[in-house]
Amino acid sequence: MNGDRKRIIYFSPTGGCRAIAEAIASVRDELTDITLPKARANNTEFNPDEKCVFVFPVYNRNIPDVCADYIKKINGRNARALIICVYGGVCKGKSLENAAGLLAASNFRPERGAYVPAPHFYSPVKLNLFTESDAEAVSAFVNGEKAVTETLRYARPARKSAQKIMKALTGKCAYDSSRCISCGACCNACPVNAIDGSFDANGKICILCGACVRACPAGARKIKFRTPLPLLFIGANMRKRTAEFYITESEIR
Ligand SMILES: Cc1cc2nc3c(=O)[nH]c(=O)nc-3n(C[C@H](O)[C@H](O)[C@H](O)COP(=O)(O)O)c2cc1C
Repeated sequence: MNGDRKRIIYFSPTGGCRAIAEAIASVRDELTDITLPKARANNTEFNPDEKCVFVFPVYNRNIPDVCADYIKKINGRNARALIICVYGGVCKGKSLENAAGLLAASNFRPERGAYVPAPHFYSPVKLNLFTESDAEAVSAFVNGEKAVTETLRYARPARKSAQKIMKALTGKCAYDSSRCISCGACCNACPVNAIDGSFDANGKICILCGACVRACPAGARKIKFRTPLPLLFIGANMRKRTAEFYITESEIR
């Protein structure tokens, strides 16, 4: 497995997954950013025995619905799949198992998976910075150099996503027109086309990912929480975590 050329596919509204994808990429690898809708609309072709690494964030204990929809749409044609779920040190749920199950249903061969901590975009306290030694461990893992004993069972259907309910409980993406400089950076950064020319985010489409907040040069956008509960929950559960590495049953057999 070592030294194979990899195709690294990442979804990264606030840059955590991108940083990890770039850290594990060698010069020969191909990086594919599927954060923007245009990129997910491309009909990417996969080849048998190609090695694909999917780097997805954890949203509400699962991979984002947009990533799940992307996987359902593509055909792996028996390509090998490694999955890295990047989470904010709060809870990881069954994101890896769900992603692996979805990839298997789309004709990929999930081989390995990892949970990797990164700064939580919502948290005022930025823990779990992705260090150089984390980057080395994850790179060794995707290149098959790291011995892994934990087993990942993935042959189960993905659970129904709780993201819509969680979003309603969390709050909304607020916009301050007095600060806005009408540059359009927010519209261009939105992974779900939720922001139109009026710069207000459509609450039905918005996934509260924070891409526009990060992109706005004037500080005109923020996630406005409906109650203090989400931040209290994050504060109470966020810990300095280390990466966890899994091998799927299919690779062991
Ligand atoms: C809508 C949303 C839901 C999230 N849910 C979780 C979660 O359930 N558990 C967790 O540990 N982190 C959670 N996070 C934190 C993200 O996993 C973390 O910020 C990740 O680095 C985001 O990836 P990105 O920077 O590439 O966009 C969530 C973040 C967002 C925006």
